[in-house]
Amino acid sequence: MAATVQSGKPRVRGARVLSGIQPSGVQHLGNYFGALRQFIALQEGNHASYFMADLHSLTSIRDAKERRALTRGVALDFLALGVDPARSILYRQSDLPEVTELAWILTTVTPMGLLQRCVSYKEKLEAGHSPDHGLFAYPVLQAADILIWRADWVPVGQDQKQHLEVTRDIAVKFNLTYREVFKLPEPYILEEVAVVPGSDGRKMSKSYGNTIEMFAAEKTLRKQVMGIVTDSKGVDESKDPDTSTIFALYSLFANSEERAALAQSFRQGGTGYGDVKKVLFEKVLAYFAEAREKRRALEADADTVEDVLRDGAKRARAAVAELMNDVREAAGVGPRS
Ligand code: TRP
Repeated sequence: MAATVQSGKPRVRGARVLSGIQPSGVQHLGNYFGALRQFIALQEGNHASYFMADLHSLTSIRDAKERRALTRGVALDFLALGVDPARSILYRQSDLPEVTELAWILTTVTPMGLLQRCVSYKEKLEAGHSPDHGLFAYPVLQAADILIWRADWVPVGQDQKQHLEVTRDIAVKFNLTYREVFKLPEPYILEEVAVVPGSDGRKMSKSYGNTIEMFAAEKTLRKQVMGIVTDSKGVDESKDPDTSTIFALYSLFANSEERAALAQSFRQGGTGYGDVKKVLFEKVLAYFAEAREKRRALEADADTVEDVLRDGAKRARAAVAELMNDVREAAGVGPRS
């Protein structure tokens, strides 16, 4: 059964939770409301592990320095937003080499057709990416990320649903081929705000250049918010909140009274888009004030972040050892354990 939830309150406790972020760009409101904030909420009462998917980013970024900077950036985002190493495991994907071993083993039971059907692969090709093997095998590495933890829940954005289905298919295939080793994970997707509009009204996405980045410098952030595209209605004209990108974004930060008040003043006229954008900008700043502050402090403290990741990798390797033995044993790879 697909696990979609309607409210921010996780229903299960004691579950194994796993998710990752590919460091291929700067995190934005779409990433936050679509997935990231779930990571924080799900730490409570569950066994959560989160990681920076630097190996996945090899498929799209070819600059070593850039990868390091983005990977570190995602680690800072995680920590600043509240991923707490005392309550969860935070690690860098490449620090858990068992994942790549498992990815190969899984590759050998993965039908070509399964990967050929992947929309994200086709989309990347359409966007001009060369059809290399890493890009094609991307979902197998993702399956390894997930299956290695025997994860119950994988909080992701709507766009990752198919990769979760592929993960389940690969798990079933391995279990049928050898024996029942893998548990089938469930996606954990918030339906409500699964799609956050970007400044041009389309889905917020780095590839559309329409992002609003919560950790951008204030000046940049202001520009991004003030750049939200509107229709050309004048201050006095009545405006439709239901088709307004400003209203949709404002709703993410406002309580229901504020939302109703803005809808009302849009409809009655007398409120200009520019003024509401300013209010929205202040709301974004206030909402992320603490996280922005924390991120600044961590940024100046490289040692602490590396310590967290080193410790995370150590705990992760210990946690997956048993599963990996089970996999090797089931497939007849390596010495008997
Ligand atoms: N493909 C995911 C994305 O682009 C990132 C990712 C890699 C991931 N491995 C994962 C997400 C494992 C969840 C679980 O968002």
